[in-house]
Amino acid sequence: MPEGLSLEEPRTDDGAALWRIARDSRVLDLNSSYSYLLWCRDHAGTSIVARDASGGPVGFITGYLRPEAPRTLLVWQVAVDHGQRGRGLAAAMLATLAGRAGRALGVNVIETTITPDNAASERLFTAFAARHGAPVEREVLFGADAFPESGHQPEVLYRIGPFASPDASPAHDNS
Ligand SMILES: CC(C)(COP(=O)(O)OP(=O)(O)OC[C@H]1O[C@@H](n2cnc3c(N)ncnc32)[C@H](O)[C@@H]1OP(=O)(O)O)[C@@H](O)C(=O)NCCC(=O)NCCS
Repeated sequence: MPEGLSLEEPRTDDGAALWRIARDSRVLDLNSSYSYLLWCRDHAGTSIVARDASGGPVGFITGYLRPEAPRTLLVWQVAVDHGQRGRGLAAAMLATLAGRAGRALGVNVIETTITPDNAASERLFTAFAARHGAPVEREVLFGADAFPESGHQPEVLYRIGPFASPDASPAHDNS
């Protein structure tokens, strides 16, 4: 966990900052600002925000429990401010969120989708799986032709788990 940062459940008033971080990534599909506000209100327990010393968000993960598989956490978006990358922040957020969701909600599987060009995301999730000794299954969830706009890469579903007891560090999770 990078020094000087803390991890918490997001609050509704973090929504605008999460939208800005997603926009500035220039990689993520940018959703409406409204959706980030709503996410912080309704899915705070399955999401996480990293704050710098001033309390401002510098990274986040949004996720939800799949309605038909409530022990599966679908990780929707992960983003870290450019200035904070490469310090282990995304890995710390993912481990802490998995630990919290495991303890509080019984989560033992994580799903996410990754586009084939996203090496950092691929590394983030496969490293998480390796640290937890969890199997990884991959299959195309949404092919390029599923998207209404042209040029969208396929979204490959990574299914990680089941894992027994996610190892998170509660000392870093102020939620
Ligand atoms: C993907 C992203 C969240 C990673 O954040 P980060 O805090 O820099 O990641 P970490 O430092 O925790 O690194 C996690 C793992 O990914 C690897 N990694 C990080 N950046 C990488 C890159 N550009 N290329 C290859 N591997 C990379 C790290 O080496 C680490 O692996 P390790 O544990 O085996 O050493 C960040 O680059 C980002 O916000 N990208 C834009 C948004 C995005 O693509 N999100 C993911 C899709 S939802």
